[in-house]
Amino acid sequence: MFRGFITILCFSFFGGCQKTDFGSCNTEEALYQNANFPIGTAVSPIEIESNEEYANIVKTQFNGITPENAFKMDALQVIEGVFSFSEADSIVAFADRHRMRLHGHALVWHNQLPAWINNYSGSKSDWILILEKHVKTVVGHFGNTVTSWDVVNEAFEDDGSLRKNIWFENIGEDYIELAFKFANEVNKDALLFYNDYNIAQKTKKCEAIVEYLRVLRSKGIRIDGIGMQMHIHLSYPSNAKIGSAFNAISEADFLVHISEIDISLNTSGEMRLTENKLQKQGEKMFDVVSAYRNIPKEYQFGITVWGVSDADSWITTYFDRIDYPLLFNEQYEAKPMYCGFKEALAN
Ligand code: G3I
Repeated sequence: MFRGFITILCFSFFGGCQKTDFGSCNTEEALYQNANFPIGTAVSPIEIESNEEYANIVKTQFNGITPENAFKMDALQVIEGVFSFSEADSIVAFADRHRMRLHGHALVWHNQLPAWINNYSGSKSDWILILEKHVKTVVGHFGNTVTSWDVVNEAFEDDGSLRKNIWFENIGEDYIELAFKFANEVNKDALLFYNDYNIAQKTKKCEAIVEYLRVLRSKGIRIDGIGMQMHIHLSYPSNAKIGSAFNAISEADFLVHISEIDISLNTSGEMRLTENKLQKQGEKMFDVVSAYRNIPKEYQFGITVWGVSDADSWITTYFDRIDYPLLFNEQYEAKPMYCGFKEALAN
C-alpha cells in the first residue's frame, strides 16, 4: 500500500510548492521534529493506560495532547458541585512525564453535559453561579499544568448567529464573556481560546466569530486565540477557503489553533478505500499544513489531530460508518496523511 517517494511539481493554490508521493516516509523521527509549534493529538486516558501501541505513538510522535472527553463537564462534575479529577489527572501525569503541552477541552459547551444540569431549573443568577463554579474549579484545579483552554466551544451556528444552547437560554449571550472572565480570574497565564467547527467552510460563521470576539476584547475580556476544529473532507473546504480563514483570524490578532483536524474519506458511507484516496488525503494534509505555515509564526499556536488511529476516530460511532480520517491506520501504521503532514513541516 505504501509506495516510494516520487516528487511531483504542484501548481495549485500555493503556486510553485513541491508535492510528493506520500506513500511512505520515515517514522523514526517524531512528527513534531521539524515543527516550530507543538503537534498534538486528542487522547483517551483508557487507551493511554491499556493500549501500548497507542500510547507509544502518542509519546513518540506528538508533543501536545488534548483530552478528547476527559475534561468535559460530564466527566468532571457528574454530580452537582462534586468534582472528580482522577481520570483527568492521569492525562496530566502522562503529559508531564513525556513533556507534552496540555490543551484543556472544553470548559463551556452544550454537549456532554451531566444529566443534572439538563434537569436543572433556577434563575439567571443561579445559572451564572453554576458557570462560575465549574470554570473556576476546573481551571483552578489544573493550574499551570494546562497551557491553554477551549473556554467556550461551538457557541455559533453555521449562519453566524449565536446558538440557542442551554447556557444561552438561561443566561443569555453574556455566558460567553463571563466564561472567559472567570477563567482569566483564576489563571492569568493559561491561554484562552474560543473553539468551533466549520470556520473555514462557512465564511459568515468565521466573520461573525472574529467580530464577536473582537468586540469582547475591546470591552477588556481576554481572549487569546481561536481554535479551528477542521473536521474536513478531501475536496471541502477548498485550500483557498482554508487559507482565507487562517488569515482572517491571524489578521484580527488571534492565535490560530488547528484544534481537531481529521480528513474524512467516506462521507457517502459507501466508499471503497483505494491507494489513490489515501494519497489525496496526504496531499490535502500537506496543503492545510502549508497554508498554516504561511501565517506569521507568532500566530501559529499549533496543530492537533482529533485522535490517533482510524480505529479511534469519533466519526465511526457518531456517523455510524467506516472512515479513515486520521494519520495512522487501524494497525497503527503511518498513512500517506502522516507523510503529507511531515513533508509540509519540513519544507
Ligand atoms: O462515557 C460513556 C460511557 O460511559 C459509555 O459506556 C459509552 C458507551 O457508548 O459511551 C460513553 O460516552 C461516549 C463518549 O464519547 C466517551 O467515549 C459518548 O457516547 C460519545 O457520544 C462521545 O463522543 C464524543 C463526542 O465529542 C460527543 O459529542 C467523541 O468521543 C469526541 O471525539 C467528540 O469530540 C468533539 C469535540 O469535543 C468538539 N468538537 C467536535 C468533536 C467531534 O464530535
